[in-house]
Amino acid sequence: MSSIDATLTPERSGAPARAAEEAASFRLEYRRFGAFHRWMHFLTMVSFTVLVFTGMPLRYKTTGWAQLSMDLIGGVQTAAILHRMAALVTVFYFACEVLFIVLYVVQRRGPLWGPGTITPGRKDWQDMRAMFRWFLGRGPHPRFDRFTYWEKFDFWSLAAGTVIIGGTGFMMWYPVQTAKILPGFVLNWALVIHSSEALLAVGVIFLFVHFFSAHLKPGSFPMDKVIFDGSLPVDDYARERPIEYERRVQEGTLGRVLIERRRGFATKAAMVLWYAITIIALIGALGFGVFLVWVALSWIGVL
Ligand code: HEM
Repeated sequence: MSSIDATLTPERSGAPARAAEEAASFRLEYRRFGAFHRWMHFLTMVSFTVLVFTGMPLRYKTTGWAQLSMDLIGGVQTAAILHRMAALVTVFYFACEVLFIVLYVVQRRGPLWGPGTITPGRKDWQDMRAMFRWFLGRGPHPRFDRFTYWEKFDFWSLAAGTVIIGGTGFMMWYPVQTAKILPGFVLNWALVIHSSEALLAVGVIFLFVHFFSAHLKPGSFPMDKVIFDGSLPVDDYARERPIEYERRVQEGTLGRVLIERRRGFATKAAMVLWYAITIIALIGALGFGVFLVWVALSWIGVL
């Protein structure tokens, strides 16, 4: 039990056995994400997965695996409908995030840049360089604030990617209307940009950045659940985000982000869901790894 947990339990320890047992299932945690951001992440995760599985077979439509995937999805028609439905979910969560940012700015809920914000700054660049030195055993591990440089990269690259993929996607969805405003060749560009940016996004999400940091990184393996759970033990928080923790202790604002969580049956049941998500993510990453090998072999003419 952590020193912080211990401060919560004494008054409960004299209670009857059941009450004491119940009290033991409470733990003080750091609330990192509220319901809004957890839902936004859930919608992103589900819609992105659907878009990838319905879009990629179109990009590689002449291959056997694409035809098999299309058959499994229910045919090209069904895939096109699912792709458009997931695109609407994407528009919805993107609009919600934009609204959140607008309200954040208008209501002056906090700083727009600097310590603790999602805006990239000089410290991120320094942290990234320190991290690479640490990988090579040539320096200490960087000490992180609320968001690390790779989390900021994840967030902003997804935002930019959504604008690019979404914009070109809607051009293809409404070709006649697009051609009334723009020259026809723009539709060819839209297809190339949509398709290439989609491949890049799949690489970033399924393998190189997001999957690695959420599942494979030491400390996260087999899965970092905080975006689903919303909170994590205070000791883990103090260790992983020491700069934010120390700032809050100094400012006296730590209490604002601490909550008492009951870890009971629901938590255990949720574990099943977390592991299911981990397995799906692992299949996605493995599939993308195999796919990269297939692309490389096709390029050099082996396949
Ligand atoms: C708002 C978001 C999006 C919209 C409106 C959209 C729309 C479209 C449309 C209309 C097509 C043409 C094919 C068809 O008629 O079914 C298409 C193709 C495709 N989409 Fe999307 N899409 C979106 C997001 C995504 C995302 C996030 C990915 C993957 C990361 C993706 C991957 C693809 C791929 C690979 C193709 C096939 C392109 C080709 O034939 O080379 N799309 N999309």
